[in-house]
Amino acid sequence: MLFLDQTYLFTPGPTPIPNRVNAAMARPMIGHRSPDFSALLEDVATRLKPVFGTKHPVYTLTSSGTSALEAAVVNTVAEGEHAVVVVAGSFGDRLATIAENYGVAVHRLNIEWGKSCSPEELEDFLKGLSGTPIKAVFATFNETSTGVLNPVRALGEVVKRLTDALFIVDGVSCVGAVPVDLEKDHIDLLVTSSQKALMLPPGLAFVAFSDEGLRAIEGCKGKRFYLDLNRYIKSYETQKSTPFTPAVSLIAGAQEVCTMIEEEGWDNVIKRHTLLRDMTRAGVQALGLPLLTADADASPTVTSVKPDTLPAPDIQKALKSDFSITIAGGQKKLKGKIFRIGHMGYCTPFDVLKVLSALELTLVTFGQEPKLGAAVKKAEEVWIKHV
Ligand SMILES: Cc1ncc(COP(=O)(O)O)c(C=O)c1O
Repeated sequence: MLFLDQTYLFTPGPTPIPNRVNAAMARPMIGHRSPDFSALLEDVATRLKPVFGTKHPVYTLTSSGTSALEAAVVNTVAEGEHAVVVVAGSFGDRLATIAENYGVAVHRLNIEWGKSCSPEELEDFLKGLSGTPIKAVFATFNETSTGVLNPVRALGEVVKRLTDALFIVDGVSCVGAVPVDLEKDHIDLLVTSSQKALMLPPGLAFVAFSDEGLRAIEGCKGKRFYLDLNRYIKSYETQKSTPFTPAVSLIAGAQEVCTMIEEEGWDNVIKRHTLLRDMTRAGVQALGLPLLTADADASPTVTSVKPDTLPAPDIQKALKSDFSITIAGGQKKLKGKIFRIGHMGYCTPFDVLKVLSALELTLVTFGQEPKLGAAVKKAEEVWIKHV
């Protein structure tokens, strides 16, 4: 390797950090009970609203995405209550497992990994449970383990038409890259974390809620302490602060992220992610590599590739050793079968060309018929159409 510090991160989280965000995080420390911090927190909570599609402030927790999932569970459903969880991959499974650990009666709607949950499937499942008092329906917005974007608005519509349940969404690997509107999407609680499309290091979780979500949090009888959202709401409302010591530097970084999103324009951020998806998929297909997901289900933030003639882990290793490119492998039942290219947050169309050209060369080193330039060409053609 020529330059050891020149590395390329294409995992579906963590994602690359813009220099100006790193600079913001390196600012001198401030006390979290100071007016300076209150101004910072309020600024971030307010400016993140369009990204979460909420009218309420966006709440920040100092913990990883899984804590956001756990917060979503413990603040809405109590032991013995019923919940439906859409399980279309490893993170849907995690949501269900968290709820099961808290004694919630979980009804898993299992979807084949690599496919999205259709509104019809959810409708049939909920009809099959008629008479059961479902407190909440949980779904993963973007199933990172498969690269599938679930049709959240259509699922939310089914939930509200058929039940009185809350609709709770894990947006960890797509909030900051996809349009969302809590009201129109019928979402009561939406959670995410910092290290994905929001261009920050790991360490923060974010929570947004609807009016009904807020009422549910206030009324939930389940036990919780650090993740009790009522504490965060009270602390924010009374002091514009957090109940416990927050990761101040990461929140300073989040403020810079808000500026970057505003400079690019939120609509353009969304469009860029669609372009990154389309370029990646076109390029991969040009190399004859099969995609795991259908176009209609494809995630704008992560693309899963299922090579049929070469072992996916070998491709992953070669990209790392020959090009310093880090991509991700498969998880759980997809382990060893797929590789995943993350393209979210601080990622440009040109970055996609880099990973595709490295893929072209890698396939040749594995003895495949050379298709040099084929992936880059197809991706460039997609790019040109968008310009
Ligand atoms: C969709 C989804 N949910 C939850 C998580 C868990 O987040 P964390 O690893 O930050 O705890 C991840 C992490 O990749 C994810 O992609």
